[in-house]
Amino acid sequence: MSPLHPANTSSLDSYWMPFTANRQFKAAPRLLSAAKGIYYTSIDEREILDGTSGLWCVNAGHGRAAIADAVSRQLQVMDYAPSFQMGHPIAFDFAARLAAMSPGGPEAGLDRIFFAGSGSEAVDSALKIAVAYQRAIGQGTRTRLIGRERGYHGVGFGGISVGGLVNNRRVFPQLPGTDHLRHTHDLARNAFSKGLPEHGAELADDLERLVGLHGAETIAAVIVEPVAGSTGVLPPPRGYLERLRDICTRHGILLIFDEVITGFGRLGSPFAVDHFGVVPDMVTTAKGLTNGCVPMGAVFASRKIHDALMQGPEAQIELFHGYTYSGHPVACAAGLATLDIYRQEGLLTRGADIAPKWRDAMHSLAGLPHVIDIRTIGLVAGIELASRDGAIGARAHDLFVDCFERGLLIRVTGDIIALSPPLIIEPDQIDQIVTTLADGLKRLA
Ligand SMILES: Cc1ncc(COP(=O)(O)O)c(C=O)c1O
Repeated sequence: MSPLHPANTSSLDSYWMPFTANRQFKAAPRLLSAAKGIYYTSIDEREILDGTSGLWCVNAGHGRAAIADAVSRQLQVMDYAPSFQMGHPIAFDFAARLAAMSPGGPEAGLDRIFFAGSGSEAVDSALKIAVAYQRAIGQGTRTRLIGRERGYHGVGFGGISVGGLVNNRRVFPQLPGTDHLRHTHDLARNAFSKGLPEHGAELADDLERLVGLHGAETIAAVIVEPVAGSTGVLPPPRGYLERLRDICTRHGILLIFDEVITGFGRLGSPFAVDHFGVVPDMVTTAKGLTNGCVPMGAVFASRKIHDALMQGPEAQIELFHGYTYSGHPVACAAGLATLDIYRQEGLLTRGADIAPKWRDAMHSLAGLPHVIDIRTIGLVAGIELASRDGAIGARAHDLFVDCFERGLLIRVTGDIIALSPPLIIEPDQIDQIVTTLADGLKRLA
């Protein structure tokens, strides 16, 4: 029997699982043992369609041989090398490749790459770079960081401080000097929008309110997800991001887009910056950066920010920040092979071709029991269910378990189902997602 067979429960005890109801899970585990293309195999050898690209990260699909080969080669040539006061060519190569395809194209100038080990680390890096930049240009009073309600920026203390998901915050202390814009979710005005919701651009003016409250000279940066993902898929209201950009520019506030989910083709464009045509000062990425194969994060910083910090005596370290695994050679090898696949298969724009099919398929679930909203953009969908009285999340959790038993992996947050399949998905697989969901919704209490 496999050591991980559900019957062998003692082997489940040691692993303290992240973001998981550990006791509930271990009483009835859902275990995956293999993955290829768009399917997982469960430990009891069932095929499970991956409706979530793992955790929004396996954009090119599972089991890509070219990535495995590149990783294996790199491990044999040089497994690890330090990145502090030392370098290795593959990290420079990967940074150069990313710079050449940076969000917004060459004119946006977001082509200075800082490597981290995850999305959370990329976010904390960007927040620290923002504060360091403001100080470097003589704006040292600008230390305040602004996020948004319902935002998710990982789980570091920086990320939860600017994040806006209450369960991630309530137990933990946060950075002083943060504040939040209101979220943009508005079912009353925007339910069942296809693409961008019409109402809510004026919510960006919250930043003016916070400038009035705190003083612009105290604010270093604003960070938002261009499309909020983990909170349950909230595309930005039409005109919202443009307005936020204008207000930031007017007040000398840096704008950071957290593209850990939207980066690398999720919206049908390489980045949300390209999709919306709004250029921030920094972009944080992870996940699709290496097709989820090796943990890695990266900040795309503007030259303006980078160059402002490249000052002072040459022997001086310009930014006292970095990680043991910044620019890890194995992650860089995975990343380079991933970018090759994206380019060869046109995956960074494939979402745009398949988005109309995806949108129509998802919206065909309107009218089914419990469905109170459906939101789609690119290859992302959020399906919001009415909550049971006094049991937020229970209904969606039941659907999640039911779908898994019937061969579909979905993700739920509260009572919202979030879908984000690999960018290689085919139309009949989209139909399989819809059929499985529809059956489940009809039987759901
Ligand atoms: C927008 C966003 N930022 C940051 C993160 C954190 O990334 P990680 O889990 O790699 O630390 C996530 C993860 O889902 C995310 O969606």
